[in-house]
Amino acid sequence: MSAVPKVGRILSGMRPTGRLHLGNYVGALENWVRLQDAGWTNFAMVADWHMLTTGYEDTSNLQGHTWDMVLDWLAAGLDPARTTIFVQSAVKEHAELHLLLSMLVSKGRLERIPTLKEQIRDLGMDEQTISYGHLGYSVLQAADILLYRPTHVPVGEDQVPHVEVTREIARRFNFLYCPEDQPVFPEPEAQVTAFGRLRGLDGKRMSKSVGNTIMLAEEPGEIEQKVRQAYTDPKKMRKDDPGRPEADESDGHPGCVVWEYHRKFNAAEAEAIATECRAGRLGCVADKKRLSGVMADVLGPIRERRNQWAADPDAVRDVLADGTRRARQAARETMELVRSRMGVKSIVEPE
Ligand code: TRP
Repeated sequence: MSAVPKVGRILSGMRPTGRLHLGNYVGALENWVRLQDAGWTNFAMVADWHMLTTGYEDTSNLQGHTWDMVLDWLAAGLDPARTTIFVQSAVKEHAELHLLLSMLVSKGRLERIPTLKEQIRDLGMDEQTISYGHLGYSVLQAADILLYRPTHVPVGEDQVPHVEVTREIARRFNFLYCPEDQPVFPEPEAQVTAFGRLRGLDGKRMSKSVGNTIMLAEEPGEIEQKVRQAYTDPKKMRKDDPGRPEADESDGHPGCVVWEYHRKFNAAEAEAIATECRAGRLGCVADKKRLSGVMADVLGPIRERRNQWAADPDAVRDVLADGTRRARQAARETMELVRSRMGVKSIVEPE
């Protein structure tokens, strides 16, 4: 791995699944905000066309989910003055680049992408029934990324195979159509979040459909109620039993979720809390109370900012309109280059 430069340029994207939970925040959004604050150029895209790859029949939620997610982005601290926030389907260049790049990658390569294979398995699909659009998921993602010619793509672990395809396509394009010293596309690097995945309250993978989440804009009362049900250590029956913050393979204990959240959101106290727990001096009930307080403090400002944006929908629309303009400008410049290098400029361009 090469060293991460002090500042670079990123394209980040998420499919619009509606309101975000803490897993989305820790896995991605928090990192986007950090990079923005460190002075990186940041394009943040709502990947609404990608939702169609698995959900093209019912599109009734698409706009509402986009809206809810953008509110959460703003709430989490994406600053529209510094980050270009836009929706994929508003920038048609994504479709054009997707088509052109789709020529540079084989069907076999796309079929081997582990993320896609997993998705097919999770949906209980037969590989033969996958749509042409779904098979091209990675190619559309490559177009999303390469249009903005970023140096890095901040993603969760599961997205790394898509970024790998993006790099291959960039390399192929540069090799075929560019003089060696004038590549059009930098090969963007996947920037995987350091903390990794935050587990759900039950210790399993956090997912809205399972109901084991804390939402980003959750109310303190709700937080307390949810944390009360969190998985701790099943062998710690009474408050003065010694507990096991860490995983223990001997009985398949995956590690205490409350401690995982302390480590993430209450790092300064986490070690002391673990020591107390192991010694049987801290019971789960008290520990959970403490975590609820921490979470309410962390999420309070986010919830407030969300409410402010939600009360001013015109301002949110302005953010998206302005972001779309900026994204289009960048996309247009890339497409000029791509068409000219590839030799697919039309002979006449009537207005
Ligand atoms: N595949 C990504 C996800 O499921 C969403 C996405 C689409 C994306 N285009 C992107 C992420 C470009 C990063 C860059 O989360």
